[in-house]
Amino acid sequence: MTTTQAQLIERSNRLGSDPRNTNYAGGNTSAKGTETDPVTGQDVELLWVKGSGGDLGTLTEKGLAVLRLDRMRALVDVYPGVDREDEMVAAFDYCLHGKGGAAPSIDTAMHGLVDAAHVDHLHPDSGIAIATSAEGESLTKEIYGDKVVWVPWRRPGFQLGLDIAAIKDANPQAVGCILGGHGITAWGDTSEESEANSLWMIETAAAYIEEHSVAEPFGPELPGYGALPEDERRSKAAALFPTIRSIASQDSYDVNGRAMVGHFTDADVVLEFLAREKHVPLAELGTSCPDHFLRTKVKPLVLDLPADADVEASIARLRELHEAYRDDYRSYYERNAVSTGSTTSWPAIRGADPLIVLVPGVGMFSFGKDKQTARVAGEFYVNAINVMRGAEGLSTYAPIDESEKFRIEYWALEEAKLQRMPKPKALAGRVALVTGAASGIGKAVATRLAAEGAVVAIADLDLDKAQATAAEMAGRAGADVAIGVQADVSDEAAVQRAMDATVLAFGGVDLVVNNAGLSLSRSLLETTEADWDLQHDVMAKGSFLVAKAAAKVMVEQRLGGDIVYISSKNSLFAGPNNVAYGAAKADQAHQVRLLAAELGEHQIRVNGVNPDGVVQGSGIFAGGWGANRAAVYGVEEKDLGKFYAQRTILKREVLPDHIANAVFALVGPDLTHTTGLHVPVDAGVAAAFLR
Ligand SMILES: NC(=O)c1ccc[n+]([C@@H]2O[C@H](COP(=O)([O-])OP(=O)(O)OC[C@H]3O[C@@H](n4cnc5c(N)ncnc54)[C@H](O)[C@@H]3O)[C@@H](O)[C@H]2O)c1
Ligand SMILES: [Zn+2]
Repeated sequence: MTTTQAQLIERSNRLGSDPRNTNYAGGNTSAKGTETDPVTGQDVELLWVKGSGGDLGTLTEKGLAVLRLDRMRALVDVYPGVDREDEMVAAFDYCLHGKGGAAPSIDTAMHGLVDAAHVDHLHPDSGIAIATSAEGESLTKEIYGDKVVWVPWRRPGFQLGLDIAAIKDANPQAVGCILGGHGITAWGDTSEESEANSLWMIETAAAYIEEHSVAEPFGPELPGYGALPEDERRSKAAALFPTIRSIASQDSYDVNGRAMVGHFTDADVVLEFLAREKHVPLAELGTSCPDHFLRTKVKPLVLDLPADADVEASIARLRELHEAYRDDYRSYYERNAVSTGSTTSWPAIRGADPLIVLVPGVGMFSFGKDKQTARVAGEFYVNAINVMRGAEGLSTYAPIDESEKFRIEYWALEEAKLQRMPKPKALAGRVALVTGAASGIGKAVATRLAAEGAVVAIADLDLDKAQATAAEMAGRAGADVAIGVQADVSDEAAVQRAMDATVLAFGGVDLVVNNAGLSLSRSLLETTEADWDLQHDVMAKGSFLVAKAAAKVMVEQRLGGDIVYISSKNSLFAGPNNVAYGAAKADQAHQVRLLAAELGEHQIRVNGVNPDGVVQGSGIFAGGWGANRAAVYGVEEKDLGKFYAQRTILKREVLPDHIANAVFALVGPDLTHTTGLHVPVDAGVAAAFLR
């Protein structure tokens, strides 16, 4: 890597890691420099610029596109005009140097055409507040004098690059510009100078807003719309989330049960906004920055009830507002797809459900195809709130016109990006909860479900163990993939708390695995009442309680669901010293049939897996049961796995992963028409054959 590239990456990481400077994955940076062309041995002028996608905060060399400046600049001579500016993106491919690096983005022109060695294009809340103010142009003069120039709104592309280049030529004293309706661009002769100019523009705007803003940019308080106390708003959020998720998922829900994953925040900035009079008209005006529409839709759905409205009334109203939102979105699509009048044929409508739902007193619910997308959508709306506060503080918030928003949301180039996205994994968009998942079979099941794209709650007795398992499974993706929750499944209130925590983390629940269990191998005469109760409490009652809490959420979601019981060969097999465990397992097995029959009308499927002899990784075996079983069968404990294998028809040892495979088969795309089934995973035990 050359010094120029290294400096560019360091500068980008510094700028991108402070959320005041730019939104997630928003903005781009570049540097120009000279290298020796390996083909001619001559000097060649190059442009390194952040490529399409990716985030400045974590940009690496791989994320940079590398273009030849002479060829890039030559594009000006063949540019066919603004109506066909999109064609220039394909032309960038003919300007690449060497292998070219990352795919050049739409903003490449701005970086290449502006005559400055270093350029930063950013989306800071403070800068966008000026950019979306009705008096943005005069404010720019007032705030920055002639050092920053106003560029009227134009959709990102080749023409915007030409506009900015012309403005820089005409204003040699300027260090940057405010891009109307959009963001900022700053430049410098050195990397330090560009960074300093960017930060100066951002901080100057922020300080100006701070000093000159009216006292109540969002208007006076709306009586009854203030934040509920924390406990109350969390429990109301958990009670509403399944319904809100069903609203957000109506068009994306498919036969594989794929829905939107949710994210909830009750950050002060959101609650403050919703507590004020102007939140209604401002939310209606929608977001502004071009990065936002695909992630947040043009506008959110806002519940028009006060904070203390009860859950039932809120749900009823949300469902009405959803219908209105869908009608409104469909007419927005039709109005704009038709009224543009050009020969453009627009991509098909992408679903009419909201991605952001605001509930006064409670908070914001955001949605995406996975947890990270849902979280970022929420972050974007927080950006939008900050922008609206700044703009209303100084002037009037005036985002770009609806038709321009539409042109961006349904831009052919964005559609092409969406089409290029890899096919979603089998369980993408599904929220799983696995009980007893901090060990053995449960951990293998949770790991497999996550590998197939599900987000997973690891529920177990000990919170630390559950969280450690989640962290181990999710790796760097962290809470975007798995969370740990504490739950003693035999305690109804604890089960409800775990369910609420899962719902608040991901929006609901679609796939529950009743796996928690324990085994005390004792003869009838040695089995105490407490032994009996404990095993029945954890396995029979525990799975009943978990199924009950989950089914409530699933019914509200209207997105079907799966409940899988990890029962046992011992639910059928009459082995020695097993009365309490075997009877509890038989109870679980019959719950499968009963609930399959009862919940089918809600598209909830209930199935079971009957494992046997899973010694490796099993806490049950390590905690004494293994020694006991070894003694019963007269083998050494370490050989128990092999002993079980020899007992089977296939003579194979059963591992936790084999159970996980069966769970995936039951909940994945292949057995969509199966319910009430038990799958033995025991390497073949004739005495436990079903029927
Ligand atoms: N290992 C086998 O051969 C085998 C065979 C048939 C069935 N099973 C069943 O598979 C399931 C998992 O067994 P494993 O072998 O992985 O055992 P394990 O001990 O490794 O895992 C069981 C987990 O359940 C948790 N747990 C126990 N009581 C709980 C409670 N009240 N609330 C929440 N979590 C609780 C434990 O903390 C542990 O993490 C059990 O239901 C077991 O009966 C296992
Ligand atoms: Zn931009």
